[in-house]
Amino acid sequence: MRVFNFSAGPAAMPEEVLRQAADEMLNWHDSGMSVMEMSHRGQAFSSIHEEALHDLRDLLDVPASYRILFLQGGGLAENAIIPMNLFGTKPRADFVVTGSWSQKSLNEARKYGVAHQAANGATAEGFTRVPPRSEWQLSEDPAYVHLCTNETIHGIETFDLPDLGEIPLVADASSHLLSRPMDVTRYGVLFGGAQKNIGIAGVTVVIVREDLLEQALSICPTAFEWKTVAANNSMYNTPPTYAIYIAGLVFKWLKKQGGLAAIEARNVAKAKLLYDTIDASSFYLNKVERHARSRMNVPFFLADATRNEAFLSGAEARGLVQLKGHKSVGGMRASLYNAVPLDAVTALVEYMNEFEQRHA
Ligand SMILES: Cc1ncc(COP(=O)(O)O)c(C=O)c1O
Repeated sequence: MRVFNFSAGPAAMPEEVLRQAADEMLNWHDSGMSVMEMSHRGQAFSSIHEEALHDLRDLLDVPASYRILFLQGGGLAENAIIPMNLFGTKPRADFVVTGSWSQKSLNEARKYGVAHQAANGATAEGFTRVPPRSEWQLSEDPAYVHLCTNETIHGIETFDLPDLGEIPLVADASSHLLSRPMDVTRYGVLFGGAQKNIGIAGVTVVIVREDLLEQALSICPTAFEWKTVAANNSMYNTPPTYAIYIAGLVFKWLKKQGGLAAIEARNVAKAKLLYDTIDASSFYLNKVERHARSRMNVPFFLADATRNEAFLSGAEARGLVQLKGHKSVGGMRASLYNAVPLDAVTALVEYMNEFEQRHA
């Protein structure tokens, strides 16, 4: 039996994709081999790669002036790769700190140049909001402004991007990329690890505006230099072939669901059901300002934290798993990525209501 999986990542996959990957595991399209056994330069894998690129460009409406790169290293490696690629002419950038992930990005960039904290959203309650543009103190002529548009741990999502004029916006969208349409032209760089909405761990998607390919520091490792990676169509070194194949299957699945506008409507409905349940009770609590509540990651707390273990074990007994909050904040967290069905959220809120009735 498969469970309802609320993991923050690696996370639930569309069952259809898992079945197709299983069917094709030993013999992909009569090639007589598994995708993981193919040369990345052969015709079979090239067709998988090109289709994945094409489908992703289509889904997100990525303009021709942007390159899509498939890298390795995940979101955290990008925290070093980005400054190494963008600090060549101006070794300074501004960071809007909205939670743990943007804080990590700021700390890492300091190794390569001046990383200025332009704003910090922390309150006495911890991270609960996105500081408005009026609070951002941008430095003079930074190479870019960094923002984490969905803070996975705190459940904070940025819905309104400020107009930064000529300054490129670099966004860590690891945990909500492909959960809704996004206007790619508002970003200089949009990136994310795959292990939430895109597929399996191992591939990092980087969407970068072409004019930003020319600003790397000379110390940037060649395998991570976007210009080189782009010139070699992500094949400068061996790319994470199986992860790209799975991402390609997920892109096709998303198209079958009706694309990003359709998946957004489903995500809105799922998140509303859970937030409404939390808000209707004083037994459960979510601290994030309403307009910044993430649709993908919903942290919630029991008013009486001594019941946390009972809540989690009762949930697990019903097949509702991986609900424990991140260790730095405690409580619970339900991640509602694209592959988590409405049925999973319905089962979760039923359980929450019952648990409350039993213990309130
Ligand atoms: C928003 C965000 N950025 C970065 C990371 C780090 O990603 P990785 O573990 O792939 O390096 C995560 C991981 O959960 C994340 O949620």
